[in-house]
Amino acid sequence: MTATASARLAGQVALVTGGAQGIGLGIAERLAREGARIALNVHKLDGRAHAARQQLVDAGADCELFVADVADVANVQHMVAAITASHGRLDLLVNNAGIERRAGALDVSEADYDAVIATNLKGPFFLAQAFAAQARAAGRGGRIVNISSVHEELPFPHFAPYCASKGGLKMIMRTLALELAPLGITVNNVAPGAIRTPINAQLLAQPQQVEALVGQIPLGRMGEPDDVAGVVAFLASDDARYITGTTVFVDGGLLWNYSEQ
Ligand code: BGC
Repeated sequence: MTATASARLAGQVALVTGGAQGIGLGIAERLAREGARIALNVHKLDGRAHAARQQLVDAGADCELFVADVADVANVQHMVAAITASHGRLDLLVNNAGIERRAGALDVSEADYDAVIATNLKGPFFLAQAFAAQARAAGRGGRIVNISSVHEELPFPHFAPYCASKGGLKMIMRTLALELAPLGITVNNVAPGAIRTPINAQLLAQPQQVEALVGQIPLGRMGEPDDVAGVVAFLASDDARYITGTTVFVDGGLLWNYSEQ
């Protein structure tokens, strides 16, 4: 993975939240390949976190772990300060950390509702706030990419709080794009469809359900983390300098698929 001289993100520092697994780890790997130094946020400093860092380092990445619960505003502010202290700069924020809890609307508990909104919606907002404050103080612009979901548009029965969080993330993204443009900061969402990651562990364990899901995806397969990561790298690159306030769907056509027999 050693970065080449033509690496698009050489010299830049990227914070990827929820980086211990799944899409976050795939994004960190890709951004490192493009030359970025990686501040990898993990929720806990456990074996999985160390393994993720080791995987990146073994592939040639410059990667440091930062522990924080993104749902905790003080934690988030402290983490952003620690990254700028350690790396001297922060150019890119990838708001990837996210959770989902399955429950019918009549059964959703207050605790699950609050947890999903705190991690998926409140966290990205206050991370963006801390990111923008440090960028302004440094006199630099930057890039914010939120990992949203097709469910920022598409209803998902049994996942109402998750849909609320992703729909909200769409409007936070659009609003911040306007507010942060004068600071030279672009803000965009990448909205994955069904990607093969641990968030889908339950579904992946049921072949019939996977088959039914794949049947609804025009490109005929589930996505992989690198399908998402390449789009994040593009949005972080100079080629995307005039893109802000938009969502790129990475879903194999799932969102707009409808057919009648
Ligand atoms: C969810 C997955 C789901 C996919 C497609 C994602 O946002 O995290 O659980 O399979 O959307 O519905």
